[in-house]
Amino acid sequence: MADETENAIDALLQETRWFPPSDEFRAKANVSNDAVYETARNDREGYWAGWAEQLDWQTKWDKVLEWEPPYAKWFVGGKLNASHNCLDRHLATKPGKLAIVWEGEPGDVRSYTYGELHAEVSRFANALKKLGVTLGDRVAIYMPLVPEAIVAMLACARIGAAHSVVFGGFSSEALRDRIQDAGAKVLITATSGYRRGNLVPLKKLADAAVVECPTIEHVVVVMRRAAADEADDTVTVNARDRWYHELISRESADCEPVWVDSEQMLYTLYTSGTTGKPKGIIHTTGGYLTGCYATTKWVFDLKDDDVYWCTADIGWVTGHSYVVYGPLANGATVFIYEGAPDWPKQDRFWQLVEKHKVTIFYTAPTAIRAFMKWGESLPKSHDLSSLRLLGSVGEPINPEAWMWYHRNIGGERCPIVDTWWQTETGAIMITPLPGIVATKPGSATKPFPGIEAKILNQQGQPVEVGGGYLAITEPWPSMLRGIWGDPERYEKQYWAKWPGIYFTGDGARVDADGYFWLLGRVDDVMNVAGHRIGTMEVESALVDHPAIAEAAVVGIKHEIKGTAIAAFVIVKSSAIDAAKSNLAAFEQELKQHVSDKIGAIARPEKILLTVDLPKTRSGKIMRRLLRDIAEGRALGDVTTLADPTVVASLKERYEEES
Ligand code: WTA
Repeated sequence: MADETENAIDALLQETRWFPPSDEFRAKANVSNDAVYETARNDREGYWAGWAEQLDWQTKWDKVLEWEPPYAKWFVGGKLNASHNCLDRHLATKPGKLAIVWEGEPGDVRSYTYGELHAEVSRFANALKKLGVTLGDRVAIYMPLVPEAIVAMLACARIGAAHSVVFGGFSSEALRDRIQDAGAKVLITATSGYRRGNLVPLKKLADAAVVECPTIEHVVVVMRRAAADEADDTVTVNARDRWYHELISRESADCEPVWVDSEQMLYTLYTSGTTGKPKGIIHTTGGYLTGCYATTKWVFDLKDDDVYWCTADIGWVTGHSYVVYGPLANGATVFIYEGAPDWPKQDRFWQLVEKHKVTIFYTAPTAIRAFMKWGESLPKSHDLSSLRLLGSVGEPINPEAWMWYHRNIGGERCPIVDTWWQTETGAIMITPLPGIVATKPGSATKPFPGIEAKILNQQGQPVEVGGGYLAITEPWPSMLRGIWGDPERYEKQYWAKWPGIYFTGDGARVDADGYFWLLGRVDDVMNVAGHRIGTMEVESALVDHPAIAEAAVVGIKHEIKGTAIAAFVIVKSSAIDAAKSNLAAFEQELKQHVSDKIGAIARPEKILLTVDLPKTRSGKIMRRLLRDIAEGRALGDVTTLADPTVVASLKERYEEES
């Protein structure tokens, strides 16, 4: 928690403007009575059960909650199916309603009605069954944002298999590690995907990963381009490979969903923590779906005629909860776009909003800051009048970006919901309800009804007004159920700080109005362009390079990304001369190495060569000091350093270089 951020927030609080919901918005809002907060607090379990009742259950639960900290079971004894809830139950009322409208980066458009999506998911689910996938198996998905990725997720859910989606921007090695950890049986991928006019060779990357994944029995491949174009020699077809289009063409569009236990694992999704190894967060079916359904309906004020666009990729939790499960469980029309926001030009998003008449738009602050930089003339040149609500997620939104978003995208008429949550929480936790909560730019406002969030001090005592650690003090339906294969880490990471209380890893402040202001991570996790990356992961990738002896990574301020990565490296003496002979090339090589090991999102912005690293007497790297150095600030307190001269020389060298 940087003091600077706290000071900035204090200054802001003095002059904060309030943005109350307009009378017009409130009049039509899905929730317009603040009594919901109290109703939920007075009978939390009854309130959540009320939401769960809005889903379809094949067998109703016997008990709403079983809580043996830190293990929760929600809707115990109930049976349901997530794909049935996202598809079948809408068929009677809206078979012809559009479920997905997709635009590829080159401009190709495809759409699926609920009827069509249901048929395609059923066909693919039948195909997966024939490939031997059954209840409880894990299936890895490594795809661009194409409709088939959503079909793949829902087809897994239909037969009770758990998906493990790996972001298409991750490297082959990152994919390999995640497949191995989950022990996935089948991998679903695509020949390629478009990014800034280029084709990312996903199948090739997948092939390289699978070589070291003995559990994979089959690889299913979606042909991304037209058949004629894809028949190039970059795509090799092995004996274990199956073409998606061939599989589904043979299957029937009837597939009885497998009714699973409410606590059956729906998916695992890997996210970064404070060690070098990403952890597979486990979400189960009944509680997760309830949380996604409820928050989508109230936070986005979703109506039957909305065209809803969440710009997240399905490789992240936002894509799981707010591209797939939340909106489809609500029977919404979901718009998705495959490519980059600046392709072919920097107005692509606004062109898409205008063309597809998007009404709800949910994106990340890093994107908003990029739009600000590209200039307001771009949104101005498009008709954005279809928009009625805007959302933000992934990192704190700075008030300047909030105001810009409000004026230039929202036309000063759309409420903005700044939603705080995590892969672990499954669904939105702190957020305005747009019909009742007045917003303050930069604040995520209040916990969603039914969520008990508090700011605690180190000892676990609540802070009424002021800063501390953000904690969730009562269980909630969409909470993580564990870390795949590592219950110990689950208990230690989230529940050890204060018994029975969930520790988020975030610092926050609460103001006199009870509004929450998120301050960022308090652990060794960076938030780079809204994506979580552990410092240790990048450090492990760096020391894997033959020339590197030791590495320390810190997050530094970045105008667009919020945080960028700076890496301090100690070069092995045997490699030092070669490195120094062409420093620029050496730095490039290291950056590329990290990119190859993890993915482009982890590529360091800055590499700083050093002969030593500042450590405390107990040997812990002093990251705060490194951050000061990398950002060119004056040195802080160095008295706890084992060797204070180390830092002084580091800083000198850094200042000479920059
Ligand atoms: C950060 C993404 C401030 C936070 C949904 C959290 C936010 C981490 C916000 C989770 C927000 C997310 N304001 N910070 N509205 N939303 N964060 O797991 O640090 O990828 O712990 O989930 O992002 O990132 P994750």
